[in-house]
Amino acid sequence: MKEIASNRKISQKLVSMITAAALLAPTALTAQTPPPGGKPYTSVPSVPIKRCANLGNMFEQPKGAAWGGRMPVEKDLAEIAAIGFDTVRFPVRWSAYADSKPPYTIDPEMFKKADEVVDWATKHKLNIIVDLHHYDELFTDPDGHKDRFIGLWQQLAEHYKDRGENVFFEVINEPHNKLTNDVVEPMLTAILADIRKTNPTRKVIMGGDFWSGISSLETFDPPKDPNVIATFHFYEPFNFTHQGASWVNPSPPAPASFGSEEDYAWLDKMADATIKFQQRTGVPLFLGEFGAIDSAPLKERARYTYAVRKQAEALNIGWCVWAYTNTFHVRQGEEWIPSMVAALGLQQAPAAKSEESPAKSE
Ligand code: GLC
Repeated sequence: MKEIASNRKISQKLVSMITAAALLAPTALTAQTPPPGGKPYTSVPSVPIKRCANLGNMFEQPKGAAWGGRMPVEKDLAEIAAIGFDTVRFPVRWSAYADSKPPYTIDPEMFKKADEVVDWATKHKLNIIVDLHHYDELFTDPDGHKDRFIGLWQQLAEHYKDRGENVFFEVINEPHNKLTNDVVEPMLTAILADIRKTNPTRKVIMGGDFWSGISSLETFDPPKDPNVIATFHFYEPFNFTHQGASWVNPSPPAPASFGSEEDYAWLDKMADATIKFQQRTGVPLFLGEFGAIDSAPLKERARYTYAVRKQAEALNIGWCVWAYTNTFHVRQGEEWIPSMVAALGLQQAPAAKSEESPAKSE
């Protein structure tokens, strides 16, 4: 316990040192960076995801709507792999593509589209997390939608049962509203039992209430299973990461910057919450979403992304940046954004490089 606490202090200091360097010299922010990590904080098993990109706003919006996004093509998966990601998270609003009556049949056309993305990820040696995202009706009426939720997972489990280990499941994105930990946990247990009938060892990811924010980790108790991974999302300070967001009411004012002591204190809170959770449950953690919206100045987005990414790595937690090409861009059109690539510690291929990448020396 003591050792863990002192390790945590080291990590905070490390991140503060690094971020101070980043503030002073943003173009060389990784040059003197010590290697991240050090000893893991707990004896929880490690998660086979280190660096992940969310394919956000592609398949999780309401059916027929566009959230400024575009659909992925094979080249996206190739480029994501080439730059150094090992995993993609694939949010799909599966509930919008299924019958409302039992057996809640999922539209075969949706499976066809999703399978294409799963095939591309597999071809390019990426893990892919099949994520059931935005089941809004479940959040407002858990009792009324429980059977359908279970029915969706019976089909997903059956459909993907012969896939390789690179395919992971994520049961439900960001439980909130009436889907509190108490309410969601029995559902997760029932769904996992079904999944295990056809997928005995597949990695299954699950998160707790309050949009899977760090506060959910205080009480979240995932079902006991050696291949369950718990997840949390980190968008703190929210007024910075969601400045100008059209879906937040009132929308936090933009432009806002990141970097005060109070801002960095959130990273300590992340360390506290994740260490305590892993000590209490013995379940490994994955940071399934983090990032800052495009309406934030790019320099601030990069500084924030760098700080959170470094903290996750210091805590030995794999991360998944939100959202690749949409709303929280890491890539714009056909080009990676160099400062975001550097902030994520990735390496651009020399041919695509237009300037010296600070990530190079890391
Ligand atoms: C959650 C939402 C997604 C949103 C993101 C950032 O994942 O499901 O729609 O864009 O958070 O707010």
